[in-house]
Amino acid sequence: MVVRGLGVPGISQITANQKRKDYIMKDIRYAPIGVFDSGVGGLTVAREIMRQIPNEKIVYFGDTARVPYGSKSKETIIRFSRQIVHFLRTKDVKAVVIACNTASALALETLQPELDIPIIGVVAPGAKVAAETTRNGKIGVIATESTIESRLYTRVIQEHNPQAQVFGKPCPLFVPLVEEGWIKDPVTVEVASRYLEPLLATGIDTLVMGCTHYPLLRSVLREIMGEKVTLVNPAYETARELKCLLTREGIANDGQEVPEQQAGHRFYVSDAANKFRQFANTILPFGVDTTQLIHIEDY
Ligand code: DGL
Repeated sequence: MVVRGLGVPGISQITANQKRKDYIMKDIRYAPIGVFDSGVGGLTVAREIMRQIPNEKIVYFGDTARVPYGSKSKETIIRFSRQIVHFLRTKDVKAVVIACNTASALALETLQPELDIPIIGVVAPGAKVAAETTRNGKIGVIATESTIESRLYTRVIQEHNPQAQVFGKPCPLFVPLVEEGWIKDPVTVEVASRYLEPLLATGIDTLVMGCTHYPLLRSVLREIMGEKVTLVNPAYETARELKCLLTREGIANDGQEVPEQQAGHRFYVSDAANKFRQFANTILPFGVDTTQLIHIEDY
């Protein structure tokens, strides 16, 4: 007697499984999200996406060869960002998140009309929440020089809250301090006090941490600003916005193909892959074993 369905699938069963697999591979819902930054800092955004939308796979690119972006011109940042988006498209991403505040401030507006998939940055989500959070209408923004000069945070905050007063302060030393691992070091506290005291004096009640690295300094910032000032983390707000966007567009991963920790995510850099991996391992909730080096100027 032949017993069907006990361990040995019939031909039709194999074909059906293969068809389903092919379907899943082609279904845009199971495509990854492209996330990019000038280097390691954008991992704070990737981490928030992994926390808030664990079904989604990420293809991360860190432009470690050309970091920092924070002191570069708009033209250069647009050129770099365009190359990166071209690279991410080769990985069949279904949406792009510009994790870098500087690139969001200077390149998003130009790139958006060039793309047929959704692309979002971190500035608008952070600015919107700051505008909604303030009680006295005084908001501080700390970021790189280029982000502050672009005045995009001010523009978006005032679109949502026309009465708001925005006080921008570039804090260029924060990025190297974080990358050096001096998160709670007395030197960092001293530098932060110098940057933040003029902001405190304005009476702000809300402070936007407008650079990828700054949420890692949260406890120092909190100590200096005190409990009454609300700290806004654009990385957190961007992950929330991405979640809404994927649902709205009908392209959210429904969980049939859930990434297993690191296995679901891929990391690419333009230089210093080992250094990137070491930093990633201090930020992400799992070990990053492989980081692929690519030549970004080819895209
Ligand atoms: N990722 C950048 C940002 O958020 C900071 C580092 C840089 O200057 O490239 O603005």
